[in-house]
Amino acid sequence: MRVTLQPSGAVLDVQPGEKILEAARRLGYECPHSCRNGNCHVCAAILVEGRILQEGEERDHGELYTCVAEPLEDCVLLWDGVLSLGELPVRAFTCQVSECTEVGGDVWRVRLRAPAGKPPRYHAGQYLLIEREGADKAAFSLASAPHGGRDLEMHILGREESAVKLLAQLQSEQLARVELPYGDAHLAELPDGPLVLIAAGTGMAQMHSLIEHCRAQGFKHPVHLYWGVRQPSDFYRIEHWDEWQRLPNLYLHRVVSDLCGWEGRCGLLHEAVREDLTDLSVVHVYASGSPAMVYATLDALVGAGMDAHQMRADVFAYAPR
Ligand code: FES
Repeated sequence: MRVTLQPSGAVLDVQPGEKILEAARRLGYECPHSCRNGNCHVCAAILVEGRILQEGEERDHGELYTCVAEPLEDCVLLWDGVLSLGELPVRAFTCQVSECTEVGGDVWRVRLRAPAGKPPRYHAGQYLLIEREGADKAAFSLASAPHGGRDLEMHILGREESAVKLLAQLQSEQLARVELPYGDAHLAELPDGPLVLIAAGTGMAQMHSLIEHCRAQGFKHPVHLYWGVRQPSDFYRIEHWDEWQRLPNLYLHRVVSDLCGWEGRCGLLHEAVREDLTDLSVVHVYASGSPAMVYATLDALVGAGMDAHQMRADVFAYAPR
């Protein structure tokens, strides 16, 4: 029997006689539950369609307890709090500001330390929300990777007034309230093929997380990093850059859009990628930057033979075309 869960959209293949909670956990979903015998009601869901059997009683609507309910036919349930495969629960932390350092190009590397105990869980490439005084929460990519445990890193461009205020707040309070993880342009699982990472400006933070995660996991496929800025002075210092340069499978490309004649390449990021990579059929692409940059990259790479599904970017979720 198939049980479809809303709002997650997960579809469970439930074996005859199996309880719905049991099937969901067998299939790897994280579900709200506690007693598993029908007493605590933590596993409650609403039956939207279909019939179930619960403690000897047949039902075709209303609340049910998934730990003691089994489907009698295909069903649809409204069951909040179910996390799909690879999805991690969002949690809030009050962190200490352990570092706030200018690293060039008006960019600040901010490091936060979460409280001891349960460390934050996230996938490489995800982002956090940080509380600001007198303003909405702001999103920043995590530049750290999950193996960093309690230590979280962000790269903040301190040019706009809102960012300058946030940096001042972090420096004066030495505490930050954050929520994480968010975003689906992540590496919950390492791909079986080359990675192409395309970052504009502080979009580098997300790629930093992906590269550090690949390093920690011993990823062997080629990784191509394209990092673009307007002027050479906009490149900022990356702590592990020298180590990255020595990795045999990591290829670093710095591209400047507004100045030719510096020591490196000039032009647009997607043009540099197209020039270098002739076979895009097997690559996995991650892009971080403005919506204009991300969609220009998508169009250029799809025009060169890449399937759109091979590319991931947070922009696809927060600024859909
Ligand atoms: S887990 Fe307690 S009622 Fe289902």
